[in-house]
Amino acid sequence: MPKRLSFEAIERYREQGFYFPVRVMTAADATATRQKLEAAEAALSDKLKGAFRHKPHLLFTWLDAIVRRPAILDAVQDLIGPNLLCWSSLFFNKAPQSKTYVSWHQDATYWGLSSPDVVTAWVALSPSTVEAGAMRVVPGTHAREQIPHRETFAPDNMLTRGQEVAVEVDETQAVDIVLQPGEMSLHHVKLVHGSPPNRSADRRIGFAVRYIPPHVRQLVGRDSALLVRGVDEYGHFDLERSPRADLDDDALALHEAVAEQHARILYAGTGRQDAKTF
Ligand code: NI
Repeated sequence: MPKRLSFEAIERYREQGFYFPVRVMTAADATATRQKLEAAEAALSDKLKGAFRHKPHLLFTWLDAIVRRPAILDAVQDLIGPNLLCWSSLFFNKAPQSKTYVSWHQDATYWGLSSPDVVTAWVALSPSTVEAGAMRVVPGTHAREQIPHRETFAPDNMLTRGQEVAVEVDETQAVDIVLQPGEMSLHHVKLVHGSPPNRSADRRIGFAVRYIPPHVRQLVGRDSALLVRGVDEYGHFDLERSPRADLDDDALALHEAVAEQHARILYAGTGRQDAKTF
């Protein structure tokens, strides 16, 4: 029996490459998490928009708690099995009335992972509405082969390389992933998706968490991940540690090393490093 999703939901994910909405915390919990994020942003100036935007669950106990949250893991387990590594996490935050966007892309393109058994849990911490620039997906595209991408490095593009699919996307087929605070969507690593700018008066805050089963390999270089459920009988990834306290010395040192390693993978062959701040 599935732990969280219905058989119909699992079937829909397999056919279409995504499923939403799944409530993973109360609206009040989402608001409390947003307040913790905004307090951390205020205390750290822009670090959470720069160096700390990537894998912040290794730095903050309240984000570690989200990537381990049973309501999320139960649904992810229904899609990729009972042994789960958290490979990465990233904030996709858009300021009110800003130009920031995400071009049409497949996540698999530059992640270096050996298998398409990769699920993103995208957790809304503010209303992710059409006006606020909610994610859009093209159903069924996860079943296609890897599509060629071009690298634009466009400054307002939130993706590492500003990568976009190098073919026409049929936008008439796209579905808006509208989420209320505390709801998540699930999407497949090959699903074509993107998101337009935020035209609303509020920030659009989303926390994207990437999960893999331990049989997946990193093909580009040595990589690390956090075991969040079950066992890892493969050892393909160096296992990370959760922070003992927010921004404790060990957590900061681990995060710095891990971020450097990930940048080498995500920017392989470009001669660039992450200079983006969102
Ligand atoms: Ni993506």
